[in-house]
Amino acid sequence: MVMVMMVCLTAANVAWGQPKPGCSGSCGNLTNIPYPFGTSLECSFDETFLISCNDTTYQNGGHHKQAYFPNSFIPITNISLRDHELRVSGPIARDCYYADDEEYDRHANVVMQTNSKFPVSSKRNVLVAIGCEAIGAIESPINYDALAGCLSLCSQVEEVKNGTCSGAGCCQISIADGVIDYSLMAENLFNHSDFNPCDYSFVVEVGAYSFSSLDLVDLQKRESFPVVLDWAVGNYQSCEQVNNSSTACQSTHSECYNSTNGPGYRCKCLEGFQGNPYLVDGCQDINECEIWNLCVSQATCHNNVGGVECRCPKGHIGDGLISGKGCILKDDKYLRFAIPMGFCLCLLAVLIGGLWIYWGLKRRRFMKLKEKFFRQNGGLLLQQQLSDHKGSIEMIKIFTAEELKRATKNYDESMVLGQGSFGTVYKGTLLDNKVVAIKKSKVCDKNQIETFINEMIVLSRVNHRNVVKLLGCCLETEVPLLVYEFITNGTLYSHIHDRTQDSCSALSWKMRLKIATEIAGALAYLHSETCIPIIHRDVKTANILLDEDYIAKMSDFGTSRLIPVDETQLTTLVRGTFGYLDPEYSQSSQLTEKSDVYSFGVVLVELLTAKQVISFARPERERNLAMYFVSQMNADRLLEILDDQVPLNEEIIEQLREVADLASKCLRMRGEERPAMKDVTAELERIINTN
Ligand SMILES: *[C@@H]1O[C@H](CO)[C@@H](O)[C@H](O)[C@H]1NC(C)=O
Ligand SMILES: *[C@@H]1O[C@H](CO)[C@@H](O)[C@H](O)[C@H]1NC(C)=O
Ligand SMILES: *[C@@H]1O[C@H](CO)[C@@H](O)[C@H](O)[C@H]1NC(C)=O
Ligand SMILES: *[C@@H]1O[C@H](CO)[C@@H](O)[C@H](O)[C@H]1NC(C)=O
Ligand SMILES: *[C@@H]1O[C@H](CO)[C@@H](O)[C@H](O)[C@H]1NC(C)=O
Ligand SMILES: *[C@@H]1O[C@H](CO)[C@@H](O)[C@H](O)[C@H]1NC(C)=O
Ligand SMILES: *[C@@H]1O[C@H](CO)[C@@H](O)[C@H](O)[C@H]1NC(C)=O
Ligand SMILES: *[C@@H]1O[C@H](CO)[C@@H](O)[C@H](O)[C@H]1NC(C)=O
Repeated sequence: MVMVMMVCLTAANVAWGQPKPGCSGSCGNLTNIPYPFGTSLECSFDETFLISCNDTTYQNGGHHKQAYFPNSFIPITNISLRDHELRVSGPIARDCYYADDEEYDRHANVVMQTNSKFPVSSKRNVLVAIGCEAIGAIESPINYDALAGCLSLCSQVEEVKNGTCSGAGCCQISIADGVIDYSLMAENLFNHSDFNPCDYSFVVEVGAYSFSSLDLVDLQKRESFPVVLDWAVGNYQSCEQVNNSSTACQSTHSECYNSTNGPGYRCKCLEGFQGNPYLVDGCQDINECEIWNLCVSQATCHNNVGGVECRCPKGHIGDGLISGKGCILKDDKYLRFAIPMGFCLCLLAVLIGGLWIYWGLKRRRFMKLKEKFFRQNGGLLLQQQLSDHKGSIEMIKIFTAEELKRATKNYDESMVLGQGSFGTVYKGTLLDNKVVAIKKSKVCDKNQIETFINEMIVLSRVNHRNVVKLLGCCLETEVPLLVYEFITNGTLYSHIHDRTQDSCSALSWKMRLKIATEIAGALAYLHSETCIPIIHRDVKTANILLDEDYIAKMSDFGTSRLIPVDETQLTTLVRGTFGYLDPEYSQSSQLTEKSDVYSFGVVLVELLTAKQVISFARPERERNLAMYFVSQMNADRLLEILDDQVPLNEEIIEQLREVADLASKCLRMRGEERPAMKDVTAELERIINTN
């Protein structure tokens, strides 16, 4: 029966992890002796933790079991495993003189001797001295720095105050660290007065003593005061020195920490566990559900190893903890997610919508830009003109920017046919495989749009076999694009001057005469047979193209000017090519058809001589071909400057002379003295036909 009870008790104690299994955990009033303490060596960690449990016989004959430090008379009254504290009954030093009896009761020096390794807790105790003109002092045998004392003064009882220990009748002072055992002293500086026969000094747990004026007379019946000692395990070793827990902290879920007062180490259970960390399996999981009320009322508590789980009821979400989020209805939670989610979705929708609108706007802006260019480039005017002249100019086409972009492979460099101050000419292949030349002007004179369109209208109506045909235009780009028929055989210029190939490729005189006649015819047509006269302004061999059959085509009307019907002269900025430029026009800026005649004269000279129009390689006198030619003609030295590629038989020489005469007429300084293109053409045709 007793055994069963013992087992039950032990089991219960094991759960709290107090004494070593199989050991008694109590001694008299001390009912809680935790391991590493024990009343026998087997039950204690080592002899430091040995407690002797002796029978104490009281003066009145009764006896009681009392726990002591071995070899000491200091009783142990309480042991705390958690705080690593030990409460003992500390002695009181007293110094009394009873004047009436002239009797002394002196225990002015007492020693607190535990013979242990446990220091007095400096935080939990104070030294108190009581009396008038009384000194209390403490001294440590191992720590001389701990020597300290206080003086209490008073001349009458009225000066002292109950519950206050600050110098009047009672003084107190804190205790240094590392005081293991000590001696106390109490002494009066003068003779004791009647109301204060005794002086006392003692160490006492903070809060365990409250001063009363009655204590000046007699410290009542007090034999002792509680003193708190700190304890730690390890023979002055730290956690590191014992490898944290291998020897002392036996339990799983335990950890080692250094002592806070003096050497040694301590053990404690990890959070969520409780029990005795010094015992194997001493640290047991705390069933938090049974001990504390951690969960909110709806939640059910589930104890986990080292923790707790509060499960919320169905339809709820949260940690269920009172100190946490508790349990929240799922709907709330859903809403809390749904609202930001909804917001996000809305934002996304707005973003996508915005993007869509942006692209739409951008596209519209692009369309608008195209429209603007179209308008700016005179598209509307052209459209109107086109509808006005239905039938007559049906041949001109308005191309889209996209169409021409595709035709030129996005204006690739490989498609460039030529480049000049006017802009760039690209070769393009339309969707119907028709090869065209696309001219992209560099700049667009916005003020001249109407004129430009008119010119285009006129040019579109020019339907002459010796004029490069304008097929259409594109007005959707910033500068208008002009689309011409593509002439395959290069310029007359290159045929005359680029004699890289053998001389056979040089144009025969007959061919040259034919080309001259064709060009003269084209210019005559432009000057007089179109409804509004057109002055080309830039007649030169580089602007005369040859097709595969060597049919000449006048091209590049980029600088061309229409001459309004009521005006025969037009003041313009001088344009043209140096060397071909009519000197009269360049001086007066008065543009007439005769300027073209002059330029054509230069072309004739070029055909005759195959010489560059301007050459700085020639002597200064000969630098300008036209001038040189005229001077040679005047000096009757034509033959000297003729092209040596032209064989000089009698028939040809005659033609050469006639053409040279014609050329010099065209090159006359005064425009009005020059023949009209019509006449030039007629003369050339006559020359061809007479032979
Ligand atoms: C032990 O406890 C009993 C009853 O509580 C008390 O009368 C006695 O004085 C105590 N003994 C000591 C040494 O504290
Ligand atoms: C307690 O008893 C042991 C022997 O049983 C003895 O050696 C020791 O001195 C005693 N201690 C006290 C304080 O009486
Ligand atoms: C021991 O000390 C603890 C805390 O200081 C206290 O709660 C407990 O009542 C004490 N036990 C005894 C027997 O004095
Ligand atoms: C204290 O008392 C002693 C003996 O009665 C006496 O000799 C001494 O003078 C007194 N001292 C003071 C300061 O009163
Ligand atoms: C202090 O308290 C006691 C009773 O506890 C009382 O007799 C005494 O007069 C008080 N002393 C003072 C100075 O208040
Ligand atoms: C414990 O004490 C030792 C020696 O005093 C020291 O080296 C070590 O760092 C301390 N450990 C901890 C965790 O404070
Ligand atoms: C601690 O462990 C080291 C090796 O890890 C060993 O050398 C040393 O003896 C151990 N110390 C103790 C007190 O167990
Ligand atoms: C002991 O524990 C401390 C901290 O808890 C750690 O820094 C140290 O590495 C441990 N030493 C050993 C030997 O495990």
